[in-house]
Amino acid sequence: MSEEHKHDHGHDHGHAHDHSHDHKTRFHDPQHAAEFDRRTSEIRDDLAEKLADMLALQGDEQILDLATGTGRVARPVAKRLKTGRIIGVDQALAMLDVGHQHEDPIRAYYQGAGEADAVPFKSNSFDRAFVSFSLHHFGNPAGVVTEVLRVLKNGGRFVVLDPIIEEAKDSVDVALETKINQVFRRTHGDDFRFHTASSIQRLLTKAGYRIPRTNILSYSFNQEGMDGIPTGRHWLEVAEEVEKEAPELAQRLKKNYFTWHRHDDHVHVKGSFSYGLICGVKPE
Ligand SMILES: C[S@@+](CC[C@H](N)C(=O)[O-])C[C@H]1O[C@@H](n2cnc3c(N)ncnc32)[C@H](O)[C@@H]1O
Repeated sequence: MSEEHKHDHGHDHGHAHDHSHDHKTRFHDPQHAAEFDRRTSEIRDDLAEKLADMLALQGDEQILDLATGTGRVARPVAKRLKTGRIIGVDQALAMLDVGHQHEDPIRAYYQGAGEADAVPFKSNSFDRAFVSFSLHHFGNPAGVVTEVLRVLKNGGRFVVLDPIIEEAKDSVDVALETKINQVFRRTHGDDFRFHTASSIQRLLTKAGYRIPRTNILSYSFNQEGMDGIPTGRHWLEVAEEVEKEAPELAQRLKKNYFTWHRHDDHVHVKGSFSYGLICGVKPE
């Protein structure tokens, strides 16, 4: 079994009233951070290029990469800059360290440690901002998008890239969504929550952004295991559990997302996941 498929119960669930920022996610573990950076994914590479397109860069922009991690998405964005630069902010020093010590340094990339809902920058200082594969980790997503609005210049663009789940259409969808979030929270902590395309749009609109574009991209797969599929790996745990506990949810998981067939030590998966690229603009 690869490291990606192991359960990691390192997160301390603690007490219900503990909402301090000092609880540690697995991104704070240097070994996990290094493994995270080594994972390859054609889907993610493609999405990163599409995110860079949506940023509509001239090459001289000051860009905020919120929850930058190891800089995996900052890297292709940086290739489109001439005189501009990217500032990556993350709460996990272990992730920043991997990016900082990379054998192939990212051009025009600077890092800062900080919380996504309280970044250490002056108001109106960035031309662009993006957040990739991180919105679903934030306990306070409304606070985060408001904070980005503060540091963006008027007319500045903010691009959100995140896996999205189906809009719930009935009570079975709602129960499945609850189950999916429960399983992911075991690994990623209680703040974890998948969004839908419209919940991200609502988040941005409520904060005061104009939304000129939303792009929903679905990627089909038909392969052994979930390697290479961003956020794919815990979906198999969801499948295993609903199969045992709730056949109705298993049916719906198959209909909405993917089917799975076990043989020997392997599992064949076939289906598709969607990712949202949503562009918000700070009004002039
Ligand atoms: C799945 S990684 C994505 C990293 C990078 N954006 C990418 O696309 O490869 C999620 C990152 O969000 C960071 N993160 C989660 N919550 C955060 C918060 N409240 N403030 C700052 N960083 C946060 C984690 O430390 C982690 O590095």
